[in-house]
Amino acid sequence: MIAGVKGTRDLLPPETRVWNEIERVAREVFALHGFDEIRTPILEPTELFVRSVGESSDIVHKEMFTFLDAKDRSLTLRPENTAGVARAYVEHSLAQDGGVKKLYYIGPQFRREAPQKGRFREFRQIGAEVIGAADAAADAELLTMLFDFFARLGFLGLSISLNSVGTEDCRPAFLDAIRAHLSPHSEKLGPDDTRRLRENPLRVLDSKDPEVQALLVNAPRMLDHLDEASRVHHEELLGLLAACGIPYRIEPRLVRGLDYYTRTVFEVTAPGLGAQDALLGGGRYDRLISDLGGPKTPGIGFAIGEDRLVMALPEGFRERALAGLDPVAMIPLGPEDRPFALALARELRKEGIAVDLVSAAKGPKNGLRAAERKGARRAVLVGERERQQRVVLLKDLVNRTQEAIPMDEIARRLLALATAVADKGNPPP
Ligand code: HAM
Repeated sequence: MIAGVKGTRDLLPPETRVWNEIERVAREVFALHGFDEIRTPILEPTELFVRSVGESSDIVHKEMFTFLDAKDRSLTLRPENTAGVARAYVEHSLAQDGGVKKLYYIGPQFRREAPQKGRFREFRQIGAEVIGAADAAADAELLTMLFDFFARLGFLGLSISLNSVGTEDCRPAFLDAIRAHLSPHSEKLGPDDTRRLRENPLRVLDSKDPEVQALLVNAPRMLDHLDEASRVHHEELLGLLAACGIPYRIEPRLVRGLDYYTRTVFEVTAPGLGAQDALLGGGRYDRLISDLGGPKTPGIGFAIGEDRLVMALPEGFRERALAGLDPVAMIPLGPEDRPFALALARELRKEGIAVDLVSAAKGPKNGLRAAERKGARRAVLVGERERQQRVVLLKDLVNRTQEAIPMDEIARRLLALATAVADKGNPPP
């Protein structure tokens, strides 16, 4: 047996129904907000992530799957998707279309992290980016979209952790203040935090070391060091979120693990995820596009960890997604009944009824057992006698009842039964 690669997973049916349903809702909600899908390659030049996510980040420092191709070019399996979207935006001169670009993506990302609950080496993100909008209303609209999406999935009680990390205008003074605060305690920093303090002191605020976290309790706050324009942006965003009823909490030490952020940064955590409780992260990146060689263009976005979303998903949504289409088993009782059964199955599918052809080659009982094993709740049986009488047998596999239905009525009957099930499965208004 060949096992899958450590930290990767096979998503198997029927669980894939849950993933598909989440993605369907995401596409619908994003489209309602004027977003279009972008699909960028999984493989990118390593340089792209070094210049965007940044050398001082854990991702670039130690988590990328990087290799040399036959011509000695360094390639990397994308660890995140914002950099690829920004590269595509610059490469295809999307700015030339004028206006704001609203893009979303759904796809796998790769990070060489130690696998644990909610943390994989291949994981999937559902993300959205708004490129070309600088004002706080764009931040607020993105966050309301996020909450509309979560509401559609049935999440209650989520709240956004929010901070501003300012811009290059105010950050150097803040970094100096952090250095001054931590330097007297440098012997308490482990090797990783010592490197972070040297390369990018902002990263130390993200330290998982409890001793370092204790040192940071009274550390300077970025919010107290914001330049005037960043402060106004931040306060306008808070006002807009309050006006829209989006719950948020200011987290003065939230900095995020990627280097491209400016001003707004945010995360949403979900209970029940254990140590890896960040459901999503995002923020503004007003320098990223120009750092990658494009025109000066602001941007903001988020990425939801879809694996974690599935873990934290409200039970009602999961159950409805798993119920899926619930195919009817079509069982031709003898080989000579197969052409009719195949034709009837196609007719029913044209009406939107899911049909699964099940073989009864080893006898009718065997066919019914096979249908039950597949989870079918209803079966349509066709034999020679039925064909002569122009009926089919509709069998309820749960209640064990059976009824002969005229052939030209079976579609209507199955549709009526499907509607009754869907009504029962819907949440109360
Ligand atoms: P990130 O915080 O690195 O941000 O990742 C976003 C989300 O991806 C996390 O909150 C988490 O749910 C999920 N995630 C990250 N690593 C793993 C893993 N190893 N296993 C499972 N899930 C994981 C970004 O990726 C940015 N590109 C977000 C963004 C978009 N910022 C602006 N636009």
